[in-house]
Amino acid sequence: MLFDTAHILGILLIILNQTSARECDTPLAPEQYVGTPFDHALPRSASSEVTFFKIKDPTGEFLCDSEDARADLSLLNYMSLNKDGERPDPKKLMRAVIAVHGWNRDPWNYHAALLLALAKAEAQDPAKSLGTVAVIAPYFPNGDDKGIGYPWDEDGESVADRAYSPALVWWASAWSAGAVNNYPPETKTVSSFAVLDQIVQYFGNLERFPNMRQIIVAGHSLGGQTVQRYVAVGKTRQELGVTVPVDYWIGDPNSFVWLNETRPFPVDACSDFDNYREGFTGYEAYGAEHTGQPMNYNLELVSQGSEAIIKNFQDKPVHWARATRDLGDHPDDGCGPYTQGKDRNERFFAFIRQFPPSCTSQSAEACDTVDFVDASHDAPALFADESGLARLFHDNFYGRGQYAPDYGHPRQMGFDDPRPDGGRLGEPLLGADEGVYAGQMKHRGCWSDVDRAQTERTLSELVYDGPENTRAFCTATCAESWFKIAAVSGSRCYCGNQLDRQAVEVPPSSCTTKCPGDAAQVCGGDTRLNVFGQDAFV
Ligand SMILES: *[C@@H]1O[C@H](CO)[C@@H](O)[C@H](O)[C@H]1NC(C)=O
Repeated sequence: MLFDTAHILGILLIILNQTSARECDTPLAPEQYVGTPFDHALPRSASSEVTFFKIKDPTGEFLCDSEDARADLSLLNYMSLNKDGERPDPKKLMRAVIAVHGWNRDPWNYHAALLLALAKAEAQDPAKSLGTVAVIAPYFPNGDDKGIGYPWDEDGESVADRAYSPALVWWASAWSAGAVNNYPPETKTVSSFAVLDQIVQYFGNLERFPNMRQIIVAGHSLGGQTVQRYVAVGKTRQELGVTVPVDYWIGDPNSFVWLNETRPFPVDACSDFDNYREGFTGYEAYGAEHTGQPMNYNLELVSQGSEAIIKNFQDKPVHWARATRDLGDHPDDGCGPYTQGKDRNERFFAFIRQFPPSCTSQSAEACDTVDFVDASHDAPALFADESGLARLFHDNFYGRGQYAPDYGHPRQMGFDDPRPDGGRLGEPLLGADEGVYAGQMKHRGCWSDVDRAQTERTLSELVYDGPENTRAFCTATCAESWFKIAAVSGSRCYCGNQLDRQAVEVPPSSCTTKCPGDAAQVCGGDTRLNVFGQDAFV
């Protein structure tokens, strides 16, 4: 039997629910300052207050009845105050900077670091101040934050009793990928991406903020991963009904959601390389094993496939910040990230090689930038760098489309300079070596070798392993035996006539090991080779 009574009742209930959502007289509106406060023990931050943002159930199921506890959803966040320690005048605000914290879930640190950077921007131009720029750092807590970030009653009989507050909480780090919340347990409908949407819509409301000119959604580290994924699947500002430009700042993510199934590195050793969060396989199921609820965010877009997702990503202005001393990796994310590169640095260059940042649009708003910063994995350093000040505070401040060119030289690879600095065009790339070596070999860049993704040697012929290794000695040794290609890695020298099919060119910053025979030269790196050849390899 196709329809039993329970089915029909269920369908009726769904219809009734949808009808009531649509016919809502006074729908709950997402709004800063009117969320229901709850107890917490989080640190205070100077020039800011802890506020509670009312979040609307994005499914609309609990939209109408504010008496219904299931509609009472509250997001704690850090919000800037003006120089008098008061809430900023909405009419004076020209910019909103929304910053997503990292793995440690410490929005107060990000907020404080952004306020320090804003003070620096104000010293450069007094128009940018706590009076004109709103800085908001939302809090995406998880189960480790019980009793600290939100109330928790250990003695409660049910999960609902224990998680009795309206605080939105996510499972582990699932907020970094748009999963729905875990608590309050009666209303598991709120994707972290819907939260970002609602904050963007709030600040993009010109009735409330008539002089708002620019919204920035920023994130570093796991926050950078969050923003990168949010750019990929996130609704456009047009879909959100926002006319204010929305730009995205992404600093040093550990891994990316790859926009299609083609990976730069071999996938042979990683059968689930395309699983969401690193790809889009299983997007809808993401998080469901922990919350019991599947993803509900922008399924329409994801179901259209990679071309639609790539377009969604590339239509948005993205400002990349790459700390050049951050060659780190967060090794607990499975094998997927290694099919993108061996560390944060390589994954970044591989991503922008495959999905190039562009500045081709007529509108300055749609212009991507790529900034290099001399820093380690350090959000405050990136925020306070000249590039951070430009992207976060100065660029397009008056809505006139003024953006600074890309910061950080030397550049590394040909595709990493979407908004070049005219005064520095033609400067050599990092690691450039114009030398002509024995056998007419020239430097052909830094390349991968056997690592956590690659299983075959890039050049199989190891001709020596010794303290005399230099670029000149290795190329001469290979040329003597009529090889066309030479490669150095530490004390090792390899020869061959063809690179293995698994070999991938990586950024020059991946080759950092000094040659044992000449400390002024670089000889590859850990699982990385500087390659020399008569011909260039494509
Ligand atoms: C993925 O995107 C890249 C760059 O646009 C393209 O070269 C490649 O063919 C695409 N792969 C698939 C499977 O569509």
